[in-house]
Order: sequence, then C-alpha cells, then structure tokens
Amino acid sequence: MAEVDLLRGVTDGSERRWARLVAVVVALVVTLMIYSGLHWSAIAPAPVQAIDAATLHLSGEFMEANLGTAIQPDGSAVVRVLAQQYAFVPACIVVPANTPVTFRITSPDVVHGFLIVGTNVNSMVVPGYVAELRTRFDRAGEHVMPCHEYCSVGHEGMWARVKVLE
Ligand code: CUA
Repeated sequence: MAEVDLLRGVTDGSERRWARLVAVVVALVVTLMIYSGLHWSAIAPAPVQAIDAATLHLSGEFMEANLGTAIQPDGSAVVRVLAQQYAFVPACIVVPANTPVTFRITSPDVVHGFLIVGTNVNSMVVPGYVAELRTRFDRAGEHVMPCHEYCSVGHEGMWARVKVLE
C-alpha cells in the first residue's frame, strides 16, 4: 500500500539521520577519550609526598612536639596537623591574619577530610601521604574545621577550630 510505503520511507530516512548523528557523537566521544587519555598521561602528576603512616608519631615532622603552628624565619606560618580517628591534633589551630599559611596534614589511620569552613581550604587526607595547602586569611575570626570524609563511627564528632588573629 502506498501509505505504508510512504510511512516506511519517512521512518527509514529519519532513522538513518539519527543513526548518522549517533555515530558522529560516539566517534566524537571516543576521540575525546583517546585524546584526553594521551594528553593527561603525558603530564607528570603533582608532586605528592609519601610518609610512613605507621611510624609518623615516633620521629620526624609529625611528632607531637612539631604539631601546630610554626612561624618561619620569613614570617610565614606552617601548620602541621594530624587527622586521626576521631580528632584533629591540635584541635585548636591559631594562625596570623594577612600572612601566607601552609597547612601540612596527614593521617596515621584512615582517609579523613580537611575543610576550613568559609575558605577554599579543602582536601582529602590519605594515610601514607602529606596533603599540603597554601592559603591566607584576610581578617581575624574563627572557622570550624570538620572532617568531611566518613571515617567510621566517630566521624561526626571529628572537628577542630581555626582562630585567625590580627
Ligand atoms: Cu575523620 Cu571523618
């Protein structure tokens, strides 16, 4: 029947157009995947500092005596923090305002999160690695610093405080 043939013709035509469109989209996605795979694999990853999570309490940078804020000879501050089940050590961090501040943080047990509310300081803390973040606080004040990676039953009670002093 003519009607049926006409209908089939239209359907076939639009199906072919859609098939062509889908083929183009698939080819584009595959090309992008191959390109980005080659491109990004050619770039060295950011330097990540490894640390032995089992012994970091005993000696070196993250011994208890070295934790907290240390003012450097150039006036900047380095803050060393341990994130562990279920507290940050130290639990109250004091930093100067309008000064470059470098946070160095690591975990002896599981993955934790490091977030200073009201700033862009935000990182995962993975055992075996030191997370380093640089920032600057424009004004005096107080920020809460919760753990934002679920780290087991005490997770919601894991938080610290950052005090920024003029
Ligand atoms: Cu530590 Cu959640």
